[in-house]
Amino acid sequence: MSESANTSNRLVAVCGKGGTGKTVLTAMMTKVLLESDKAGNLLLIDADPAMGLLNALGVTVRRTMGQIREEIIKTAKRGKQEEKRQLVDMLDYMVLEALNEMDGFALLAMGRTETLGCFCPVNALLRGAIETLSQSFDTILIDGEAGLEQINRQVMGHVDTLIIVTDATSRGIQTAAQIKRMVQSERVIQCEKMGLVFNRVQGNEELLKQSAQELGLEVFGYIPHDENIAYYDLVGKPIIELPASPSLAAVRNIVEKCIFTERFSERLRN
Ligand SMILES: Nc1ncnc2c1ncn2[C@@H]1O[C@H](COP(=O)(O)OP(=O)(O)OP(=O)(O)O)[C@@H](O)[C@H]1O
Ligand SMILES: [Mg+2]
Repeated sequence: MSESANTSNRLVAVCGKGGTGKTVLTAMMTKVLLESDKAGNLLLIDADPAMGLLNALGVTVRRTMGQIREEIIKTAKRGKQEEKRQLVDMLDYMVLEALNEMDGFALLAMGRTETLGCFCPVNALLRGAIETLSQSFDTILIDGEAGLEQINRQVMGHVDTLIIVTDATSRGIQTAAQIKRMVQSERVIQCEKMGLVFNRVQGNEELLKQSAQELGLEVFGYIPHDENIAYYDLVGKPIIELPASPSLAAVRNIVEKCIFTERFSERLRN
């Protein structure tokens, strides 16, 4: 795995098979970070076009990166050189426009782009602007999709820690194995450290630990099945408002392991 491009902040991305609990984990980690005084400036990036993180956090956004991408594509298609040049100059400002200031954190929602086709140059420009923006934050959490390509293409080419969420099923664990391969062999994204979080666990921790060992992945934590989480999602209550519970305690341990590492604490002390 590669060297970190920026050692002054902590970049954490959450990925894993669909429906395993990536968004729930990101929202619960946000809660833990906000309750601690150790996160510094916090930026959340909802990299899932479905934008489920917004519900889990109980917030709405004015603008998404998808809307900005759309504007840029339209301008680029008009083909006026002067307009295109101005656009490039305004990029950082436009990304800043999509940054939503919430209570205690900032939020960037990637959203969707309606226009079909490949926009590699636009994505590369916007990714650069997001990477620049993220440098003014101490902690950055990304709620991703199952595949890592979208994070790499649109959000960030490098993260410090990749959290792979899986349920206690062999299909979830197979997806984790695929993600590991994507990182290590195909180098879809650069990361310093990656590990597994088992979610909705109902016993069998020894067996899960064993399958993680076979995969060669560290276990960051086990989150128990929590009826409250399912209930909050059912009635549309924000996950961030969950009361104290064993699942929240498990997430606190995961945050300690993945985010409040010695290197990061030192940086905030200085
Ligand atoms: N520990 C848990 N206990 C009980 N239910 C849970 C737990 N974690 C997640 N869930 C439920 O599982 C479902 C999927 O969770 P979530 O939306 O976080 O998954 P996801 O990986 O983000 O999904 P997607 O791939 O669609 O973005 C939700 O209905 C949620 O309430
Ligand atoms: Mg999700």
